[in-house]
Amino acid sequence: MQVVCPVFAVLLALGALCGAEPVKFKDCGSTAGKIIVDIIPCPSLPCVLHKGQNYGVNVTFASTNSSQTSTAVVHGILAGIPIPFKIPNDDGCKCGIQCPIRDNQSYHYINSLPIKSEYPSVKLVVKWELKDDNGNDIFCWMIPVEISS
Ligand SMILES: *[C@@H]1O[C@H](CO)[C@@H](O)[C@H](O)[C@H]1NC(C)=O
Ligand SMILES: *[C@@H]1O[C@H](CO)[C@@H](O)[C@H](O)[C@H]1NC(C)=O
Ligand SMILES: *[C@@H]1O[C@H](CO)[C@@H](O)[C@H](O)[C@H]1NC(C)=O
Repeated sequence: MQVVCPVFAVLLALGALCGAEPVKFKDCGSTAGKIIVDIIPCPSLPCVLHKGQNYGVNVTFASTNSSQTSTAVVHGILAGIPIPFKIPNDDGCKCGIQCPIRDNQSYHYINSLPIKSEYPSVKLVVKWELKDDNGNDIFCWMIPVEISS
Protein backbone atom coordinates (compact mmCIF):
# COMPACT_ATOMS: atom_id res chain seq x y z
CA MET A 1 0.00 0.00 0.00
CA GLN A 2 1.46 3.30 -1.03
CA VAL A 3 1.16 6.45 1.02
CA VAL A 4 0.26 9.47 -1.05
CA CYS A 5 0.30 13.05 0.26
CA PRO A 6 -3.50 13.19 0.60
CA VAL A 7 -4.26 16.67 -0.77
CA PHE A 8 -2.85 15.77 -4.11
CA ALA A 9 -4.59 12.54 -4.77
CA VAL A 10 -7.56 14.66 -5.90
CA LEU A 11 -5.41 16.89 -8.09
CA LEU A 12 -3.75 13.90 -9.68
CA ALA A 13 -7.09 12.27 -10.31
CA LEU A 14 -8.20 15.47 -12.06
CA GLY A 15 -4.95 15.57 -14.02
CA ALA A 16 -5.44 11.99 -15.09
CA LEU A 17 -8.93 12.84 -16.33
CA CYS A 18 -7.56 15.72 -18.37
CA GLY A 19 -4.88 13.48 -19.84
CA ALA A 20 -1.70 14.76 -18.16
CA GLU A 21 1.25 14.87 -20.53
CA PRO A 22 4.80 14.46 -19.23
CA VAL A 23 6.77 17.69 -19.54
CA LYS A 24 10.23 18.06 -21.03
CA PHE A 25 12.65 18.59 -18.20
CA LYS A 26 16.37 19.16 -17.89
CA ASP A 27 18.13 16.43 -15.94
CA CYS A 28 20.59 17.78 -13.38
CA GLY A 29 22.40 14.66 -12.26
CA SER A 30 19.86 11.91 -11.53
CA THR A 31 21.26 8.52 -10.60
CA ALA A 32 17.87 6.98 -11.45
CA GLY A 33 16.98 5.99 -14.98
CA LYS A 34 13.81 6.32 -17.07
CA ILE A 35 12.49 9.45 -15.40
CA ILE A 36 9.06 10.83 -16.29
CA VAL A 37 8.02 14.18 -14.81
CA ASP A 38 4.36 15.19 -14.72
CA ILE A 39 3.32 18.61 -13.47
CA ILE A 40 -0.45 18.69 -13.23
CA PRO A 41 -1.75 20.70 -14.92
CA CYS A 42 1.00 21.99 -17.22
CA PRO A 43 -0.03 21.63 -20.87
CA SER A 44 3.03 23.47 -22.21
CA LEU A 45 6.31 25.03 -21.07
CA PRO A 46 6.93 27.20 -19.25
CA CYS A 47 4.37 25.85 -16.77
CA VAL A 48 2.05 28.75 -15.96
CA LEU A 49 1.42 28.51 -12.22
CA HIS A 50 -1.44 30.58 -10.84
CA LYS A 51 -1.21 32.08 -7.38
CA GLY A 52 -3.33 30.44 -4.73
CA GLN A 53 -3.30 27.07 -6.50
CA ASN A 54 -1.62 23.76 -5.90
CA TYR A 55 0.03 21.85 -8.72
CA GLY A 56 0.48 18.12 -8.70
CA VAL A 57 3.91 16.59 -9.19
CA ASN A 58 4.32 12.96 -10.26
CA VAL A 59 7.84 11.72 -10.93
CA THR A 60 8.24 8.17 -12.17
CA PHE A 61 11.74 6.74 -11.96
CA ALA A 62 13.68 3.48 -11.95
CA SER A 63 16.07 3.19 -8.99
CA THR A 64 19.70 2.23 -9.54
CA ASN A 65 20.64 1.78 -5.88
CA SER A 66 19.01 1.12 -2.53
CA SER A 67 18.25 3.73 0.15
CA GLN A 68 16.48 3.72 3.51
CA THR A 69 15.43 7.34 3.15
CA SER A 70 14.57 9.87 0.47
CA THR A 71 14.47 13.60 1.05
CA ALA A 72 13.25 16.25 -1.34
CA VAL A 73 15.13 19.51 -1.80
CA VAL A 74 13.45 22.17 -3.94
CA HIS A 75 14.86 25.45 -5.23
CA GLY A 76 13.49 28.25 -7.31
CA ILE A 77 16.26 29.58 -9.55
CA LEU A 78 15.75 33.28 -10.17
CA ALA A 79 18.23 35.12 -12.39
CA GLY A 80 20.68 32.26 -11.86
CA ILE A 81 20.40 32.33 -8.07
CA PRO A 82 18.93 29.24 -6.36
CA ILE A 83 16.48 30.16 -3.58
CA PRO A 84 15.37 27.36 -1.21
CA PHE A 85 11.69 26.59 -1.60
CA LYS A 86 9.82 25.04 1.32
CA ILE A 87 7.44 22.27 0.35
CA PRO A 88 4.81 20.92 2.78
CA ASN A 89 6.38 17.47 2.98
CA ASP A 90 10.03 16.84 2.15
CA ASP A 91 9.96 13.15 3.11
CA GLY A 92 9.82 11.21 -0.14
CA CYS A 93 8.93 8.06 1.80
CA LYS A 94 5.61 9.73 2.68
CA CYS A 95 4.99 10.84 -0.89
CA GLY A 96 4.17 7.72 -2.82
CA ILE A 97 7.54 5.97 -2.39
CA GLN A 98 7.53 2.80 -0.39
CA CYS A 99 10.78 2.81 1.60
CA PRO A 100 13.33 1.36 1.80
CA ILE A 101 13.98 2.03 -1.85
CA ARG A 102 15.33 -1.10 -3.51
CA ASP A 103 17.66 -1.30 -6.44
CA ASN A 104 16.20 -1.56 -9.95
CA GLN A 105 12.56 -0.87 -9.08
CA SER A 106 10.04 1.55 -10.49
CA TYR A 107 8.63 4.26 -8.18
CA HIS A 108 6.18 7.14 -8.36
CA TYR A 109 7.00 10.18 -6.31
CA ILE A 110 3.79 12.13 -5.70
CA ASN A 111 3.85 15.64 -4.27
CA SER A 112 2.70 19.14 -4.99
CA LEU A 113 3.83 22.65 -5.62
CA PRO A 114 1.75 25.18 -3.66
CA ILE A 115 1.82 28.65 -5.23
CA LYS A 116 1.12 31.19 -2.51
CA SER A 117 -0.77 34.38 -3.36
CA GLU A 118 2.08 36.52 -1.96
CA TYR A 119 4.59 35.18 -4.50
CA PRO A 120 5.78 37.73 -7.06
CA SER A 121 4.81 37.31 -10.70
CA VAL A 122 8.12 36.10 -12.10
CA LYS A 123 9.58 33.57 -14.46
CA LEU A 124 11.92 31.14 -12.81
CA VAL A 125 13.26 27.62 -12.99
CA VAL A 126 12.11 25.01 -10.48
CA LYS A 127 14.83 22.57 -9.48
CA TRP A 128 13.58 19.46 -7.67
CA GLU A 129 15.97 16.96 -6.14
CA LEU A 130 15.27 13.76 -4.24
CA LYS A 131 18.29 12.76 -2.16
CA ASP A 132 19.21 9.28 -0.92
CA ASP A 133 20.91 8.21 2.35
CA ASN A 134 24.26 9.47 1.06
CA GLY A 135 22.96 12.82 -0.17
CA ASN A 136 23.19 11.75 -3.81
CA ASP A 137 20.39 12.81 -6.14
CA ILE A 138 18.07 9.90 -6.91
CA PHE A 139 16.53 12.37 -9.31
CA CYS A 140 17.21 15.97 -10.14
CA TRP A 141 15.17 17.86 -12.73
CA MET A 142 14.62 21.45 -13.72
CA ILE A 143 11.54 22.95 -15.36
CA PRO A 144 10.87 26.56 -16.39
CA VAL A 145 7.76 28.06 -14.81
CA GLU A 146 5.94 31.37 -14.87
CA ILE A 147 4.11 32.52 -11.75
CA SER A 148 0.97 34.39 -12.72
CA SER A 149 -1.96 35.97 -10.90
C1 LIG B 1 2.23 8.92 -12.18
O1 LIG B 1 2.71 8.82 -13.49
C2 LIG B 1 2.85 7.47 -13.95
C3 LIG B 1 3.52 7.49 -15.31
O2 LIG B 1 2.95 8.44 -16.16
C4 LIG B 1 1.48 6.80 -13.96
O3 LIG B 1 1.60 5.47 -14.39
C5 LIG B 1 0.91 6.84 -12.55
O4 LIG B 1 -0.39 6.30 -12.54
C6 LIG B 1 0.87 8.26 -12.03
N1 LIG B 1 0.47 8.23 -10.64
C7 LIG B 1 -0.51 8.99 -10.17
C8 LIG B 1 -0.83 8.84 -8.71
O5 LIG B 1 -1.12 9.77 -10.88
C1 LIG C 1 24.76 2.56 -3.33
O1 LIG C 1 24.37 2.66 -1.97
C2 LIG C 1 25.38 2.20 -1.07
C3 LIG C 1 24.77 2.19 0.33
O2 LIG C 1 24.23 3.44 0.66
C4 LIG C 1 26.59 3.11 -1.19
O3 LIG C 1 27.61 2.66 -0.33
C5 LIG C 1 27.09 3.11 -2.64
O4 LIG C 1 28.13 4.04 -2.79
C6 LIG C 1 25.97 3.45 -3.60
N1 LIG C 1 26.43 3.26 -4.98
C7 LIG C 1 26.30 4.21 -5.91
C8 LIG C 1 26.77 3.83 -7.28
O5 LIG C 1 25.82 5.30 -5.67
C1 LIG D 1 16.04 -4.87 -13.43
O1 LIG D 1 14.68 -5.30 -13.45
C2 LIG D 1 14.25 -5.71 -14.72
C3 LIG D 1 12.75 -5.94 -14.67
O2 LIG D 1 12.36 -6.56 -13.46
C4 LIG D 1 15.04 -6.96 -15.13
O3 LIG D 1 14.63 -7.40 -16.41
C5 LIG D 1 16.53 -6.61 -15.15
O4 LIG D 1 17.30 -7.76 -15.42
C6 LIG D 1 16.97 -6.01 -13.82
N1 LIG D 1 18.35 -5.51 -13.96
C7 LIG D 1 19.25 -5.68 -13.00
C8 LIG D 1 20.59 -5.08 -13.27
O5 LIG D 1 19.02 -6.30 -11.97
